Amino acid sequence: MAKARTQFVCQNCGTVFSRWQGKCDACGEWNTVVEEDPMGGIGGGPGKTPKKGRVVALTALSGEIEEAPRIGTGISELDRVTGGGFVRGSAVLVGGDPGIGKSTVLMQAAAALSRRGQRVIYVSGEEAVAQIRLRAQRLGAAETDVLLAAETNVEDILATLADGKRPDLAIIDSIQTLWSDIVESAPGTVTQVRTGAQAMIRFAKQTGAAVVLVGHVTKEGQIAGPRVVEHMVDAVLYFEGDRGHHYRILRTVKNRFGPTDEIGVFEMSDKGLREVSNPSELFLGERNEKAPGAAVFAGMEGTRPVLVEVQALVAPTSLGTPRRAVVGWDSARLSMILAVLEAHCGVRLGQHDVYLNVAGGFRISEPAADLAVTAALVSSLAGLALPKDCVYFGEVSLSGAVRPVSHTAQRLKEAEKLGFSQAVLPTGSAELPKGNGGRWAEIDSLPDLVARIAGSKGALMRGDEDN
Ligand code: TYD
Ligand code: MG
Repeated sequence: MAKARTQFVCQNCGTVFSRWQGKCDACGEWNTVVEEDPMGGIGGGPGKTPKKGRVVALTALSGEIEEAPRIGTGISELDRVTGGGFVRGSAVLVGGDPGIGKSTVLMQAAAALSRRGQRVIYVSGEEAVAQIRLRAQRLGAAETDVLLAAETNVEDILATLADGKRPDLAIIDSIQTLWSDIVESAPGTVTQVRTGAQAMIRFAKQTGAAVVLVGHVTKEGQIAGPRVVEHMVDAVLYFEGDRGHHYRILRTVKNRFGPTDEIGVFEMSDKGLREVSNPSELFLGERNEKAPGAAVFAGMEGTRPVLVEVQALVAPTSLGTPRRAVVGWDSARLSMILAVLEAHCGVRLGQHDVYLNVAGGFRISEPAADLAVTAALVSSLAGLALPKDCVYFGEVSLSGAVRPVSHTAQRLKEAEKLGFSQAVLPTGSAELPKGNGGRWAEIDSLPDLVARIAGSKGALMRGDEDN
């Protein structure tokens, strides 16, 4: 009989090796390979004869669905990211840095659901019951019927959840603290996290309860015990935000039952997280209208338009290699814009440091921000402030052409709502509202934009001729 051998598992990507090594060949991470017990994984292991399969009843798609498949919390920013509420029988992973507010938002959700007559069980492996009560008091949730437990053992948690009436929602805070009797590895290792998460997901599918798993993210931005859990659950929500700022963004990364590009915006207060229903006001902040280098981007986050200020600082460099620093945007995308500016617009930035920042700590993922970024860069370089009531959006291609983006009407409507009366946008944008009246300028190439800002190429090209 084959003797049970130990195996070595990368804690970052889950790849299994037969011997220890310092660097994982699969994901390239150092010091992530840890010895684990192979029998602790899923299924049996060597030496175990598979039992004969049982026939599973096959059913039709068009069967009855017993109850409303979704349980809405009434916290609209949270319901928006889940696609209208937690789905019964599904498992959701809520990830984020430690201290970002995962336990807070989930306690608020638990309280809200409990007030709506749902049975909610909150299992914490991180905090004692007294600590959770203290938080609940602060959140004004102490008077609700949320049931608490401080427990980390998977079998005990399952027995507790299965005891009595089935919960509508079970919150497990966090998966990194779970440990199962059948696995020998330490809590927090890939095998333990996977086994624990799998047991909870199975519970959700079998009973129809909605299960929320909390997962801490390591500093590299991975959920520790990482992608192995992401692909097992039905939805993954990430909590983002900068500690220096008090607002938080809940972003859908994966959702089998709803949209994947939604965000929910919250503000951290002394009484927990407050919904922010108009995020644009938050990200625009106090604008200094006379300063060059700031452009307002009319963006879209899922189904919602968001206006954000993009700030650029372009200054002559004192170093051999100029610096490029980006916060809140893709640095590869910035390099591309700089290259296009140089190749097609004659704007040379090789002797300049370039700093780009998205106001309020927001992160833009849309390529539609290209035009706003370019406007901010050119404005800073030329030392000319942009019109204070103008928004920018459009994608820039390598040829220097400006390409239309989606949701033109919605972007313009949001801009108008917030008092922006002008827009610079791509030629040929679909769904452009009728009757311009000089309110928006359609441009089809980047040199057009540069000329608009720097006034028929004057300010920028001159520096060029000196070279
Ligand atoms: P928490 O939900 O415990 O974070 P996580 O579970 O993601 O680790 O949030 C902790 C932070 O939130 C902590 O720094 C204190 C702050 N906080 C408030 O500012 N106001 C509040 O009402 C609560 C409950 C927490
Ligand atoms: Mg917590």
